[in-house]
Amino acid sequence: MRMVEKVHHAMMETLRHGDIAIDGTAGNGHDVEVLAGLVGNSGKVHAFDLQESAIKATKQKLKDSDLLDRCVLHQAGHEKMGALLPPASRGQVRFIVFNLGYLPGGDKSIVTTPANTLAALEISADWLQPDGLLAVTAYRGHPGGMEETSQVEQFVGNLAAENFDSFKEETTAEKSPVTFFVRKAQQTAR
Ligand SMILES: C[S@@+](CC[C@H](N)C(=O)[O-])C[C@H]1O[C@@H](n2cnc3c(N)ncnc32)[C@H](O)[C@@H]1O
Repeated sequence: MRMVEKVHHAMMETLRHGDIAIDGTAGNGHDVEVLAGLVGNSGKVHAFDLQESAIKATKQKLKDSDLLDRCVLHQAGHEKMGALLPPASRGQVRFIVFNLGYLPGGDKSIVTTPANTLAALEISADWLQPDGLLAVTAYRGHPGGMEETSQVEQFVGNLAAENFDSFKEETTAEKSPVTFFVRKAQQTAR
């Protein structure tokens, strides 16, 4: 199974109608579309991307599959997520996905950066609901990708073990993508 399929499988296992989900890197909208299908028309998906072209592509994809009504698209950096999400969603988000790197077929200079990614992951850990899942796919093949992957790994490793469970999916192929899954505990210690 490809990494993206593993992430979609985790979405299918985790999400139910009425849930709230976030895509921190909307890109061409493939992940947003899956999330939007799973949360149903009573749920909500918030998607973020810096690029106007990515937001446009995502919007068109959602229109085509009649899923736009339950999605809010933010042309903004994911590091600003906390200020843009409805405050009532804090601690209520069932699934958060990040697919790092650059948009395939797009401008390779617009790429996720460790500082913004870590800021967004910090917010994500806070906004997840108990038993909610965070999935971060990192790429090691582009300039800066190895460094970003190792910083994400460090961040995940530093999360309080009593509040979060994490595991990593990777293949043996050198520079293949890595996905970090982080599940928030049912009951979090203070
Ligand atoms: C690998 S692509 C995402 C692919 C997407 N998941 C899909 O299904 O098509 C990474 C995306 O992250 C976006 N990006 C880079 N820095 C960002 C930031 N600070 N906040 C939000 N999006 C960012 C890029 O514009 C790019 O579209």
